Amino acid sequence: MKLDVVLGLQWGDEGKGKIVDVLAGNYPVVARFQGGPNAGHSLHFEGKSFVLRSIPSGIFRKDAVNVIGNGVVLDPITFRKECENIEAAGAPVKERIVIAKKAHLILPTHRLLDAANEAAMGKGKIGSTLKGIGPTYTDKVSRNGLRVGDVLADDFKARYGKLKERHVKMLSQMQFECNPEAEEAEFFDAVEYLKQFRLIDCEYFMNTQLKEKSILAEGAQGSMLDIDYGSYPFVTSSSTACAGACIGLGVPPSSIGHVYGIFKAYCTRVGSGPFPTELFDETGEKLRKIGNEFGAVTGRPRRCGWLDLVALRYAVMISGVTDLIMMKSDCLDSFGTIKVCTSYKVGGKETDMVPFDTFAEIEPVYTEFKGWNADLTGCRKEEELPEEFRNYIAFMENYLGVPIRIISLGPDRDATIMR
Ligand code: IMO
Ligand code: MG
Repeated sequence: MKLDVVLGLQWGDEGKGKIVDVLAGNYPVVARFQGGPNAGHSLHFEGKSFVLRSIPSGIFRKDAVNVIGNGVVLDPITFRKECENIEAAGAPVKERIVIAKKAHLILPTHRLLDAANEAAMGKGKIGSTLKGIGPTYTDKVSRNGLRVGDVLADDFKARYGKLKERHVKMLSQMQFECNPEAEEAEFFDAVEYLKQFRLIDCEYFMNTQLKEKSILAEGAQGSMLDIDYGSYPFVTSSSTACAGACIGLGVPPSSIGHVYGIFKAYCTRVGSGPFPTELFDETGEKLRKIGNEFGAVTGRPRRCGWLDLVALRYAVMISGVTDLIMMKSDCLDSFGTIKVCTSYKVGGKETDMVPFDTFAEIEPVYTEFKGWNADLTGCRKEEELPEEFRNYIAFMENYLGVPIRIISLGPDRDATIMR
């Protein structure tokens, strides 16, 4: 069987939670393969709303196994809070979640280091969610990290102490004032809680499941935040593209089936970094208001702008997207004119490629569409969609070379058209 992958193709916040929740009904296994509690995947159904951070968005489907893969970084404290919240809503988390022993642990001092790094960068800061993501992946790559499976070792406390001391030294070198012990007791309590879950050898588990079952892999963040292909250094610290699913779950590239790429009908970005189509006027303000573009994790207002097809085609290329999913087109219902960026002007020259230097003056060149000026939220069939809207999506499919298979017209599970 195959591993289908769902990915965000922009700067995160594309609506991955909703789509994984919708698709999860068809998959007995749902797996997260990278990122950590910097993610905020929102689910809305039966009048209830949830924001998932580390837990895969299949958690509310009765028969699905939810895997936290080895490519994920897990914060036991946040994870416990998240689990208790979901358990209170009636989903039995300990039966539905398994966790890779090789996933790395976020320590409280990783979060302090995140804050210290950002403070040291001043104006040039990344705009991190401050969940300890960068420092934890740094420790992984520099071979200092602690992993979920380590919590079972007799000397776990000693190993924790050694890593904490290393962090304390770094924090004091950076003259960052903090109390590294403040959350220690809570951390060890949360580690005990973690031990109640089934801890797995993810690579064996996944490959065994693949013999009989199809699996849905759920990406976090988005392609333009990828550590290699995003607007470096204003990126996250993991591989958000499709290839990350193989590394983060221990499955071969040949197991990949569909690659679902999710994008919003406009663009948003939280945190710093290049954003060629960003709008600083009332149109941007209107998008933020209608789309309710405020961070699910940090509450920060998101920067908003027109859809950037140059960046989107780049993301489609890197991940080999086979099926596109368009979110929030209903948010454009009241715009008389809708713009999409179809090329960039860099140093006076027009190009349809994302340049190496994403900090260069990039002037977006737009193609304009007449708005449909109709309420899309009630549409449930393709035939009900206005002609202007159909022209608009046909243009995008042609530009991107990939069909748009799902159109989402509202946050609820049901507000979805399958094509
Ligand atoms: P989901 O999965 C949007 C952004 C941060 C910052 C940069 C680095 O909900 O789409 P980090 O905390 O990773 O060190 O932050 O990446 N960022 C996100 N933006 N959605 C996310 O996740 C994000 N995760 C990280 O704002 O600019
Ligand atoms: Mg988010």
